[in-house]
Amino acid sequence: MNTYGLGGKVAVITGGASGIGRACAGTMARSGADISIWDQDWDQIELVLKELDAVECRTHGVVVDVGDPASVDAAIAGTLSALGHVDVAVCNAGIGGAALTSGDYSDEAWREVIRVNLDGVFYTQRAAIRAMKASGRGGSIINMASILGAVGFPTASAYTAAKHAVVGLTQVAAWDHAADGIRVNAVGPGFIRTPLLERNLDEATLQVLAGQHALQRIGEPHEVAELVAWLASDAASFATGAYYPIDGGYLAR
Ligand SMILES: NC(=O)c1ccc[n+]([C@@H]2O[C@H](COP(=O)([O-])OP(=O)(O)OC[C@H]3O[C@@H](n4cnc5c(N)ncnc54)[C@H](O)[C@@H]3O)[C@@H](O)[C@H]2O)c1
Repeated sequence: MNTYGLGGKVAVITGGASGIGRACAGTMARSGADISIWDQDWDQIELVLKELDAVECRTHGVVVDVGDPASVDAAIAGTLSALGHVDVAVCNAGIGGAALTSGDYSDEAWREVIRVNLDGVFYTQRAAIRAMKASGRGGSIINMASILGAVGFPTASAYTAAKHAVVGLTQVAAWDHAADGIRVNAVGPGFIRTPLLERNLDEATLQVLAGQHALQRIGEPHEVAELVAWLASDAASFATGAYYPIDGGYLAR
């Protein structure tokens, strides 16, 4: 169903081969967008591209390491040559990182989470802004933060620091590029049932986390994708520089 009217727009989704990014790809494609999936995992990219065959849209996939600026610049060049322009960028690729107290967090664990979750958003956002300015069409950038872009969580110092920084990056880019017709927003999901969560947490822990949301459950990827697709659309024309929790009430206490 074409809920968000994204026909004619090209959307890049980093981390689009799994979880929340994969759901964003499906929701935006069903609303008419052409989709470029950026991910580090080619086998998973191929699966998602096959899923998108069921929808009438142009698709493209590229292997990228979002923490490497040369890789990101090559990916944007590949997308532009395949699909012509970029109107939407969902800077979503991310990792959980080690669960260690702040005193125990290692240099290596810290660096890798910051490299992927913060540097990766900065490099992707920058590449998207340059492409949007060059096309003169403006655009919408959606940076994937987290509830941990607003509050802390034990043993997640690097992740929490990166997500808070993503909110700051978003605010600055919104001011820097409003005159270019580029809107930039951050999304803050609560705990969402994705491979990232299921890899790291057992069912008993997920149940405890569910109880920390007013709705008493973990969210589903498509529930985040609805907000992302709205932010991508022209209906969100007055939305920029904001942080939007989508968290089943986690932060409402
Ligand atoms: N699942 C949650 O509970 C939750 C909550 C809040 C925010 N988030 C955020 O949502 C985003 C997506 O998370 P998810 O739960 O869907 O995870 P996921 O593990 O299901 O998907 C993440 C994707 O990112 C890709 N990726 C990882 N590192 C990459 C790199 N260096 N370059 C390119 N691709 C890379 C992975 O291959 C994977 O396909 C992340 O930024 C995460 O921090 C998730």
